[in-house]
Amino acid sequence: MLEIELNLQENLDYCVAQAIKTLAQLSDQLLMPRNVPPGEQHWNLVNYRDWTSGFWPGILWQLFEATNDETWKIKAEQYSNLLIPLSNRPAVDHDLGFQVYNSIGHGHRLTKRSDYQEILLRTAHQLADLFNPKVGTMLSWPIMVDKMNWPHNTIIDNMINLELLFWASRNGGAHILYDMAERHAETTMNNHFRYDYTTYHVVVYDPSTGKKIKGVTHQGFADESLWARGQAWAIYGFTMVYRATGDARFLDIAEKVTDVYLDRLPDNRIPYWDFDVPNNSEEPRDASAAAITASALLELATYLPDPEKAIYYRGQALEMLRVLSTPVFQSRQQNPAFLLHSTGHYPNGSEIDHAIIYADYYYLEALLRLQKLQNNQPII
Ligand code: GLY
Repeated sequence: MLEIELNLQENLDYCVAQAIKTLAQLSDQLLMPRNVPPGEQHWNLVNYRDWTSGFWPGILWQLFEATNDETWKIKAEQYSNLLIPLSNRPAVDHDLGFQVYNSIGHGHRLTKRSDYQEILLRTAHQLADLFNPKVGTMLSWPIMVDKMNWPHNTIIDNMINLELLFWASRNGGAHILYDMAERHAETTMNNHFRYDYTTYHVVVYDPSTGKKIKGVTHQGFADESLWARGQAWAIYGFTMVYRATGDARFLDIAEKVTDVYLDRLPDNRIPYWDFDVPNNSEEPRDASAAAITASALLELATYLPDPEKAIYYRGQALEMLRVLSTPVFQSRQQNPAFLLHSTGHYPNGSEIDHAIIYADYYYLEALLRLQKLQNNQPII
């Protein structure tokens, strides 16, 4: 039995209670909650085209999994239905995976509905159209080609969307989807990291030769700084790619990107929005990076051959979740989100120190992974 200083059931019950408040707030509006600014009580809502649109249905599916209560399933189906148009149009960017896999992917995992399988397969093929074989990665942001003069750009966040391609290759999709996802991960492993395994947010490539032009930032403090959520996506992404491929190189890089993140964390284990921002004790934190990392580390620890290192990673994840579960980070009386204090896009002045839906999604995922570990169940 895993010893933890965290009342897991109490925190899962808290997520259920908060989600009930969100449903009441949404009323019958068929829009997705995205963020709550500091001091406010109401969610700002977005439609299915927003990059975060999958996280609310994903939360609903996970609440169904946690409670076995059909009410959550009905709501999860209702909100998942809103995403279906995404599977019927060309990909406008890499976020398609976040939108459709983190929602309908759970729906398929929990119900095995064949229509969900078809939607996921169609979406995977749309996403795959962003792959450039010369470079060996997907074009993450087509809109930035002209806007920023980034002719082929790949962001570290894009790692998460490989999961849809791996899933599709195992569930009736073409094998080439696996090859693309594996090659994207390899190319990212070779080009996205500095000598110390901190990640660039964006790598710009020449689309015709495949050569790397430069590493830059979009949401971080500076081109050479370490944007906290970027490193969290790297930890989560390479852990998932190791799971999908069994290739030890991906386990190795997952450990390296984790070690630098853990070494540089402040005492309470919740990073500032960027690790390199000056005078950082006054800067906003990013609870979302902590939730993503906690969830990833619970998985990564299960793959490590070194038991001491596995205990260390699991301990770090537990500490992150313990701190996220304290009154400082939980929204409780303030608003219906699960967690406060995430930072979306600081340089843009948007979503600074907000409650943000993807922090809630990964917090719930991490709590459920912990519950499965305690019950000796597979966590994926
Ligand atoms: N994928 C966008 C973000 O992490 O903000």
